[in-house]
Amino acid sequence: MRNTGADIVIIAVLVMVSLGGVFLYADQLEHHGMTVDSEGSAAYCLTCHDGSAAPKISVCSTTCAVAVHKTLINYPPAGRKKEFAPLEAVLRAGLKLENGMITCITCHDLKNMNKYHFAIDTTRFARKLCYVCHVEIH
Ligand code: HEC
Ligand code: HEC
Ligand code: HEC
Repeated sequence: MRNTGADIVIIAVLVMVSLGGVFLYADQLEHHGMTVDSEGSAAYCLTCHDGSAAPKISVCSTTCAVAVHKTLINYPPAGRKKEFAPLEAVLRAGLKLENGMITCITCHDLKNMNKYHFAIDTTRFARKLCYVCHVEIH
């Protein structure tokens, strides 16, 4: 049997519907030649950033070297109101949390095409991102 135009349209629609089930709920974009979900969890980002498809990013939630920021800890940390901005202010600034915790997309928004995809514009002041949360940095 020969494929008619109508068959091809039906096949195309079926393919789109089935792919839609996979893609439509997420925020897909192009990231180093791959299609990734810019709203993904830390576990998701680490499927590549574990040294397999991209250099390893260490996740630290207890005692961390300063270069490795704590990730997957609750925000704000209990009993440290003087050191950290209130949750509402952080959310109002546009930072996102994962189940109330600091995660990769708290600091990185893959939609922003600055060097490190920082979640907020840091061109005029490099530490602007840090001071969304930190009242001061030691
Ligand atoms: C499919 C694999 C993959 C996934 C998933 C992925 N990345 Fe990447 N990412 C890469 C690769 C590859 C690079 C480039 C690494 C290099 O060249 O050193 C990169 C680079 C980066 C960079 C450095 C800036 C840049 O673009 O060069 C940041 C920041 C980053 N990714 C954040 C994230 C975050 C946050 C997530 C989750 C929302 C994520 N990535 C998910 C593969 C991935
Ligand atoms: C508290 C903010 C913050 C969090 C949380 C965070 N990052 Fe970053 N990330 C940064 C900053 C700031 C840099 C800029 C480079 C530096 O200072 O070393 C960076 C750099 C990067 C780079 C580029 C590294 C390089 O050497 O080129 C990648 C990739 C990256 N982060 C991925 C992630 C992933 C994946 C997560 C979650 C597991 C994550 N980041 C969590 C702030 C953060
Ligand atoms: C989403 C909020 C948030 C952002 C953005 C953020 N931090 Fe933090 N940071 C925290 C929290 C909460 C802690 C305390 C973690 C703990 O001690 O359990 C912390 C801890 C630290 C510490 C360890 C010392 C301390 O004060 O406890 C350093 C250093 C630090 N952050 C630097 C930075 C830098 C530099 C940036 C910007 C690149 C940044 N942070 C961005 C929330 C944030």
